[in-house]
Amino acid sequence: MSHLTLVSNRLPIRINEEGEVERTTGGLASALAGAGIPGDYTWIGWGGINEEEIEDQDAYIKKLNDVGVQPVILKTEEFEAYYEGYSNSTLWPMLHYMKGRAKFDPEWINGYRAVNKKFAEVIAKAADKDGQVWIHDYHLLLLPKMLRELRPDIKIGFFLHTPWPSSEIIRALPERNEILEGLLGCDVIGFHTYNYLRHFNSCLLRILGIEGEAEGLWHGDRMVRMGVYPIGHNSTGFHEAMQSKTYKEALELHKERLAGGKLILSVERLDYTKGVPEKLEAIRQFLRQNPEQRSQVNFVIIAVPSRVGVEEYNMLAETVQREVGAINGDYGEVGHSPVQFLHRGFPMEELAAFYALAEVCMVTPIIDGMNLVAKEYIDCKRKKYNARAGVLILSEFAGAAQEMSHSLLINPHDTQGVVKAMEQALSMSDEEMWSRVRAMQDRLARNDAGAWAKRFLGDLTESGTTDHDPDAHETLAEVEENLTKNLASGRKVALFLDYDGTLRGFVDRPEDAIPDKSLVDLLGRLAAHDSLRLAVISGRPKTFLEKHLGHLPIDLVAEHGYYWKRREVGEWELMNPHVDNSWVDVVLPHLEWAVTLTPGSEIEVKTSSVVWHYRQADPEFGLWRAKGLLDELTAITASLPVSVHHGQKIVEIASQMVNKGVATDFLMKDWKPDVALAAGDDQTDETMFAITPVCEDHFHTVKIGTGSTRAEHRTTIEGLRNFLESLADTLSNQS
Ligand code: UDP
Ligand code: G6P
Repeated sequence: MSHLTLVSNRLPIRINEEGEVERTTGGLASALAGAGIPGDYTWIGWGGINEEEIEDQDAYIKKLNDVGVQPVILKTEEFEAYYEGYSNSTLWPMLHYMKGRAKFDPEWINGYRAVNKKFAEVIAKAADKDGQVWIHDYHLLLLPKMLRELRPDIKIGFFLHTPWPSSEIIRALPERNEILEGLLGCDVIGFHTYNYLRHFNSCLLRILGIEGEAEGLWHGDRMVRMGVYPIGHNSTGFHEAMQSKTYKEALELHKERLAGGKLILSVERLDYTKGVPEKLEAIRQFLRQNPEQRSQVNFVIIAVPSRVGVEEYNMLAETVQREVGAINGDYGEVGHSPVQFLHRGFPMEELAAFYALAEVCMVTPIIDGMNLVAKEYIDCKRKKYNARAGVLILSEFAGAAQEMSHSLLINPHDTQGVVKAMEQALSMSDEEMWSRVRAMQDRLARNDAGAWAKRFLGDLTESGTTDHDPDAHETLAEVEENLTKNLASGRKVALFLDYDGTLRGFVDRPEDAIPDKSLVDLLGRLAAHDSLRLAVISGRPKTFLEKHLGHLPIDLVAEHGYYWKRREVGEWELMNPHVDNSWVDVVLPHLEWAVTLTPGSEIEVKTSSVVWHYRQADPEFGLWRAKGLLDELTAITASLPVSVHHGQKIVEIASQMVNKGVATDFLMKDWKPDVALAAGDDQTDETMFAITPVCEDHFHTVKIGTGSTRAEHRTTIEGLRNFLESLADTLSNQS
């Protein structure tokens, strides 16, 4: 079995009616086929026909296995609900911002779940131990999580070939939570553009309440990385195709047929996202406004039939054919129809000949994840293969527009704008065309399908599923070993643990985040050990800590070190009696104003700090306001003895003379442990990690969650809890 498994709904090849193996059409299949992925890999997917249509299943499987692919065989009923239903009648329009076209049927999602599960089972059986699985596209959004449950050992990557729309669209999907959770089963999630990635992050925040960062987020004990990988076309394949006999013959044949006329080409699957009716309207207007061009131009529209079992697609095919007939009826002449509609697919060699000859290529989708036709057209403009000069008219709503600024960018809804671009293209000099082409070819050469796959797979290889920082020199299990070894030989161990976000998860109302019984028991069990000292070092007020943890034989530090209750003293004291809090009056008005402007936010005044909480505000609005408030506070507190920090849904202003680091330092000097550990989740905890430890052995530092840190290890709340439980168990077994 191979180390890498590619997974997509549609396999790159199919067995046609004559029993021959042939290539399938679509950006996903073409790019991956041209990705030149090195080494041995298996490709798993649906083979284009269903169980009932396969006469001899064993022979069918063998034929596909022989060419390196493995089919997932679906029953017609499953296929209808999963592919025609949920994938292409619900998800496809939604992902392309066409909510009005989306249809919802509860049976479809059941079929979608069942088929994603079927894929998971097939892959789980086929994938190598510790192998990599690269899943593609919107048909398989639930698969990553399902697969991880079956095979936690493998690395899972996912690439979306469509746009990821704004959260306003995704929120309308009844299964939105399940879909996002499904994708979070990945190690790496890739999108074509930064916009799609940004929208995905916004969905995580608004729908699941998860705040991701540019590079990714922690989910459970795993880092889920996210990245932008604009897909490239199969450059090698097209260059080879242009050296073939078929190409040369097609080039000659079409040249002859065009008889000096101009070729204005468009190539697409017949899909409502591709904007074919809008393009036809622009062609109609062009012919109406430019009568002298009517006998000169040949609009060749290659429209590959697509998803013929879905009603919307059939209606589109009818509309387009009717309109083509109407335009030719209005503007055709004897022996010449300006629009030629070719409702079929062409092999690469013939397609390359069309690209090479066309003076203009019109790629005008209403919206498109990337669009490879645009890239292929430009790449085929090679003088050495007898290509003519040409210019690309490209919709600004195609992902490719971001990389192809030397095309004529248009808005497909602006008919007159498209007509103008056509006029400009037809009157452009060869010199200008070649100069635009060359500028784009340089860029495309750097990011073809091969480079794209290499970049994604490189990131997948580097991604980790462990609970510790890859740079750390030891695992948490080894830390535990070190602590127990020290305790077993009678040496002293100190634990400094933050509370919120470290020992306990966040909830909407901070007062509800009380420690559960098992946490209280756990802290009690640890503290019962003679040589172990434990301090909970929190930003919480002393009343809260006293109420829930005050009965334990541990040290408590409240308000980031303003108050403490040491075990041997047994009562709350000011840690530093000289702290000056007069700055509070300066900052409070700014926080009041933030509350006025931000519904759902509130102020908490503590003894040595003030906090603006926005956990209950709109998540994105709250974050935006927080950034504004931070700028404002940084300016006004420049000469005050305070520090301002942005924590988990809070902005906190605290006295500089008080912080968790100062508290930890005091306790460490007092206890003189041989080995110590500090764990925390936010910026205030970094002050603990930064102290100069006095312990002889090692000061282990553990960050909970995402974000930059100086700690050596990284884990989750759950990971830390497991670590502490295991430590407590070992200690009770030792004693
Ligand atoms: N294609 C093809 N034969 C055709 C028309 C198109 O092989 O007759 C290929 C084309 O070369 C391109 C893919 O289909 O690689 C279409 O990809 P694109 O990203 O433009 O759109 P998608 O179909 O994925 O939405
Ligand atoms: C788009 C999708 C692909 C799909 C292709 C062809 O490019 O992103 O996943 O394979 O269209 O569509 P089809 O439904 O025929 O597979």
